[in-house]
Amino acid sequence: METYDLLVSNGILVTAADTYQADVAIMNGKIALIGQKLNVPAKTVLNATGKYLLPGGIDVHTHLDMPFGGTVSSDDFASGTIAAASGGTTTIVDFAIQAKGQTLAETAETWHRKADGKAVIDYGLHIAMTDVDDKIVAEMAEMIAKGYPSFKLFMTYDGLRVNDDVLMKTLLQTKEHSGLVSVHAENYYVIDYLIKEFLDQGKSEPKYHALSRPPLAEAEATGRAIKLAKLVNAPLYVVHLSCQEALEEVVRARDEGFPIMAETCPQYLLLSEDNYEESDFQGAKYVMSPPLRSKANHPVLWQALAQGKLQVVATDHCPFFFKGQKDMGRNFFGKIPNGAPGIEARLSLLHTYGVGTNVLSLQKFVELTSTNPAKVFGLYPEKGTIAVGSDADLVVFDPHMERTISKEILHENVDYTPYEGFKVKGYPVATIARGQVIVENSKFIGKRGEGRFIKRKAPIFV
Ligand code: URP
Ligand code: ZN
Ligand code: ZN
Repeated sequence: METYDLLVSNGILVTAADTYQADVAIMNGKIALIGQKLNVPAKTVLNATGKYLLPGGIDVHTHLDMPFGGTVSSDDFASGTIAAASGGTTTIVDFAIQAKGQTLAETAETWHRKADGKAVIDYGLHIAMTDVDDKIVAEMAEMIAKGYPSFKLFMTYDGLRVNDDVLMKTLLQTKEHSGLVSVHAENYYVIDYLIKEFLDQGKSEPKYHALSRPPLAEAEATGRAIKLAKLVNAPLYVVHLSCQEALEEVVRARDEGFPIMAETCPQYLLLSEDNYEESDFQGAKYVMSPPLRSKANHPVLWQALAQGKLQVVATDHCPFFFKGQKDMGRNFFGKIPNGAPGIEARLSLLHTYGVGTNVLSLQKFVELTSTNPAKVFGLYPEKGTIAVGSDADLVVFDPHMERTISKEILHENVDYTPYEGFKVKGYPVATIARGQVIVENSKFIGKRGEGRFIKRKAPIFV
């Protein structure tokens, strides 16, 4: 009889389709057997009695080691992926940002150099296109064929944004070659005008960051991007959707039968514009784009997740130290680097405030955090499920474990967490990446550089 590398015994398997008790035997990084009371020899046995066994989390929106806003995001591919793994995420898709004059291949190469020898979990790369002419548009086809099927276009941010003609050309190209465009949807001109108005009025505190980026500026750009996608009949994915007004645009298009998809993030489900009022410039911790919204949006977004109107929960992890980075904007909110950490607490937060409140079923929880991200971004079924032949990317998750989120328990390389003091119920106790236990009881025991670049396939519409 074959000796398996690892046997995870007696766990409660949770997939997007089922919950059932079983053992899982792993060989050469793949799931080899699933069955009840598997009586097989294994080099290592991990007893998961009373714990959920989940497909590893997939976070399709991260910014590691990224030059942005006059500084660089503070997690690199080592610290960022260790934090991800500690929170139950076994694959990320990070944004490789095109520098001026770079080809898309050079952009990817720059990001491979950041990840090589550092990533502890598997990763893919989206290409964020910021300097686009017809040659670059043509290059998208080669990038899709090489395993980079997804592209991000910024509709705002000086130096990064593209115009609608570029957006339309990229949509056409992805339609033609089975790729996917995603958009950061906010109206540049509205924001630019409001920022200047506040500046003229001497309104420089962090809360004016939010006031300069109103929900309708997000909804307008979301609706415009969707209309362009409809015009050329291409699929579209909207990243970090934050509010009801933008959601309505997505829902309308989906109801009409168009392949439009969208993600939201824990910060838009759990934090609010009230955070910008925190004293001593602490509001800067929450400066991100789109900004945090009113609490009235929370139940709307939760329900949208429950009802399949939003398809993915990602983090938009983009950490900057409060001391030394966020405080670059002490005199003017426009100089605060945009972004916040969140890569580590995603599963626990969603389990606690989604499953624990009966808003999300366990199946929906897995669908939003693993299965749908895998399908939409060309990783399925190797990742995103628990099935024979799939990668053995698994999380042993204790649904009863209670913890309080704080900077001290997290592994993110940053001096704060926006979720400080949040009580959670449900926490990963072991993370398995391609058959290797790399985190046990919040301790990283894997090896740097073991994470592989994953060439991704065509998107599946969900
Ligand atoms: O504020 C944010 N979201 N920073 C990261 C870059 C982006 O727009 O996703
Ligand atoms: Zn963005
Ligand atoms: Zn982002």
